Amino acid sequence: MDALAGSLLGWLCLGITVLFGVTVRYMAMRNPVEKANLLVWSLLPALLGLLCLAVLGVGWGLVGLCFSCLLSWGYLGGGALLPVGDRAVLITGSDTGIGHALAKYLDSLGFVVFAGVLNKDGPGAEELRQTCSQRLSLLQLDITNATQVKEAYKKVSEKLQNSGLWGVVNNAGILGFPADGELLPMSTYRQCMEVNFFGAVDVSKTFLPLLRKSQGRLVNVSSMAGGIPLPRYAAYGASKAALSMFSGVMRQELSKWGIQVAAIHPSGFRTGIQGTSDLWDKQEKELMENLPADTRQDYGEDYLLGLKSYLLQMPAYCDADLSPVLRAILHALLARRPHGLYTPGKGAYVPLCIFCYFPLWFYDFFISKMLSLSQGH
Ligand SMILES: NC(=O)c1ccc[n+]([C@@H]2O[C@H](COP(=O)([O-])OP(=O)(O)OC[C@H]3O[C@@H](n4cnc5c(N)ncnc54)[C@H](OP(=O)(O)O)[C@@H]3O)[C@@H](O)[C@H]2O)c1
Ligand SMILES: *[C@@H]1O[C@H](CO)[C@@H](O)[C@H](O)[C@H]1NC(C)=O
Ligand SMILES: *[C@@H]1O[C@H](CO)[C@@H](O)[C@H](O)[C@H]1NC(C)=O
Repeated sequence: MDALAGSLLGWLCLGITVLFGVTVRYMAMRNPVEKANLLVWSLLPALLGLLCLAVLGVGWGLVGLCFSCLLSWGYLGGGALLPVGDRAVLITGSDTGIGHALAKYLDSLGFVVFAGVLNKDGPGAEELRQTCSQRLSLLQLDITNATQVKEAYKKVSEKLQNSGLWGVVNNAGILGFPADGELLPMSTYRQCMEVNFFGAVDVSKTFLPLLRKSQGRLVNVSSMAGGIPLPRYAAYGASKAALSMFSGVMRQELSKWGIQVAAIHPSGFRTGIQGTSDLWDKQEKELMENLPADTRQDYGEDYLLGLKSYLLQMPAYCDADLSPVLRAILHALLARRPHGLYTPGKGAYVPLCIFCYFPLWFYDFFISKMLSLSQGH
């Protein structure tokens, strides 16, 4: 009786170990390594394997142990980072937010940073000049201006001589005014495509020859809204979805050159992208002016004037700590085996899973519940 219970327990352990290993592997594919997780993911499979060994006896226990160790080794090996050395990285949109924080972070790690800024005389650029090392160069780079993209390319290739560029982070982006797709003026759709899609395409195409030399990395900061449909993000989401699809195709096409590509789909983080009340007033005015009278009547003044309140609430559920995004981008730049997609931030991964694996009606229901919860009504 005891022997039977013992072997049952052993099989259970083996099952758990295998399940655990597979889960870890799966999660590792989706999420960048977190320091705290590292210990857990490496220790737990080994402990479970050892337990197997104790209960199952030498034969099968050993197999379980080896298997779990192999899995955790594979996971940790893939997550291991290459040395920074003198690798050079170009970041677009370093004036504020994620790009700005990333420029400082990579500079502090020893990278040669080319920080593209929309305004070289602005406060963001000035702060980078003051706080970063001599390695960092500022580039005037409006990604929608072909002349500036070409000039930036010239400057970067002159500075690098023959050493190639290790990474390009397409970070610059705009949000536009979040409102119902029917209400958004055409200009918002065009601006979003212009910056978030065409701008990133131009920068990527221009700098790819330099990446080819180093067999480097292309990283696109897309968005959660580019991977799944979210209300109010018709213009922004569509432009990011275009970027994500382009990324996917490039990942397939560029692998033959040894260039690895990764897309980052962050959820909400508190940055300059949420805009200022001046900007909202301007965007609201533009929206109202372009609205046909009957649409205006159907939606009602109250609803239309309430659109801005969504922006007011946004900071409440956006994270002020950008480090998950920075870690994801670092992993995309330096991991031996970077992932194709990263989903940093609260609530970025689960909706994506539901969108991918469940019927659409369930996804729509889930999103409406999630949004009404996060907006407190
Ligand atoms: N924050 C989030 O919650 C979140 C979520 C998902 C995805 N993202 C994505 O993350 C990226 C960075 O966003 P962020 O949150 O850090 O916003 P941010 O603070 O507004 O940063 C975007 C930067 O891009 C710059 N920029 C705008 N138009 C440009 C152009 N034509 N050429 C060059 N630079 C331009 C902006 O300059 P100005 O400040 O001078 O306009 C700003 O410095 C964006 O692609 C965004 O879509 C952010
Ligand atoms: C593009 O950049 C160039 C060089 O900085 C500038 O002279 C030109 O006016 C810009 N074009 C537009 C459309 O902003
Ligand atoms: C990023 O976007 C650019 C332009 O859209 C594309 O060339 C590139 O392959 C994309 N890379 C990734 C990793 O998404």
